[in-house]
Amino acid sequence: MFENLKEQPADKILALMEMYRADPREQKVDLGVGVYKNAEGVTPVMRAVKAAEKRIWEEQTSKSYTGLAGEPLFIEAIRKLVLADAVAPEQVAGVTTPGGTGAVRQAFELIKMANPGARVFVSDPTWPNHLSILKYLGIETVPYRYFDSTTGGINFDGMIEDLQAARPGDVVLLHGCCHNPTGANLTLEQWKKVVETLNATEALPMIDIAYQGFGDGLDEDAAATRYVAANVPELLIAASCSKNFGIYRERTGLLMAVSKDAGKTKVNQGTLAYLNRQNYSFPPDHGARIVATILHDEELTAMWKEELEEVRLGMLELRKQLAAELARLTNSDRFAFLAEHRGMFSRLGCSTEEVEKMRDESGIYMVGDSRMNIAGLNTKTVPILAKAIIDAGI
Ligand code: LMR
Repeated sequence: MFENLKEQPADKILALMEMYRADPREQKVDLGVGVYKNAEGVTPVMRAVKAAEKRIWEEQTSKSYTGLAGEPLFIEAIRKLVLADAVAPEQVAGVTTPGGTGAVRQAFELIKMANPGARVFVSDPTWPNHLSILKYLGIETVPYRYFDSTTGGINFDGMIEDLQAARPGDVVLLHGCCHNPTGANLTLEQWKKVVETLNATEALPMIDIAYQGFGDGLDEDAAATRYVAANVPELLIAASCSKNFGIYRERTGLLMAVSKDAGKTKVNQGTLAYLNRQNYSFPPDHGARIVATILHDEELTAMWKEELEEVRLGMLELRKQLAAELARLTNSDRFAFLAEHRGMFSRLGCSTEEVEKMRDESGIYMVGDSRMNIAGLNTKTVPILAKAIIDAGI
């Protein structure tokens, strides 16, 4: 049987990780995979996470199964973190998933189950793994215009025009904040127009929110998701704790199905639990328990928020430094958009050849579509990157 297997295309982001590791140059700069790194290039375990793990180690008496939905305290905590009081708790079905990717995968499975003919509208560009999972599941995708590489901003008119082509029962995948891979985000006014369009077409929104707290703040980054939740009949939300709690390998995510009609929540909850059972049975618990421990304890919550804010402000500062250095070198504001972008990423908007040139000649590793992980920089490497950008003729 195995002779029928073919080599699968390598994931570009993960392949870049390998390439970076294999590069012997000391001067190399890793702006690839979306993992936060401090100025020393280390991805630290957050202080509140360590404290929560200690507490769990001391207090946990069993590692028997949880429920199929995972730990209820986790679900409640993330529901509140993402949605606050935008909708009533009774309107929300939720299950723990293995990371944000697990939530995305389960959401797509649910879409396929509920409406096998649904097309999923995706921003151009979107996170490559969205496309890969959709293809794997045989779900048709329709790109909508999003990033304008000449301005580094959003082609909003194009976006709305494309979304108007959605049919009832189609799905529109949106990034709640900190758009991956571009870093360009909608304003709240623009979100309102998106919601109007969704309601006019009767398409169902799905929000992927993997970087809450990395953009403008925890509440600010969730504002769009809250607005959508309060103003559409149905919504799917895939949330991740990988980045904002720094617990990448623990695989901690939450899938929520929000319905205006609370009477639908029981079936929605049952469906999500059923999908968990079919795919991996019980979701991983350790990360979810860490998050629940933190968010149900005032002191740990304060500790976590403080560190998350340090992380967020650190990235913002690096953005400003990079934009300023490029302004100095080019004597123009061509790269000012880098300071306007939010989250972990910015798309430079240059060609794959130019990305390769920067890698070969300057040891700068960014994803082929010119996505840079801003957290991969520090004050020493900002000028190195800026010079590499200019040397590559961008
Ligand atoms: C990224 O976009 O780099 C992260 O979300 C990591 C991943 O799994 O691709």
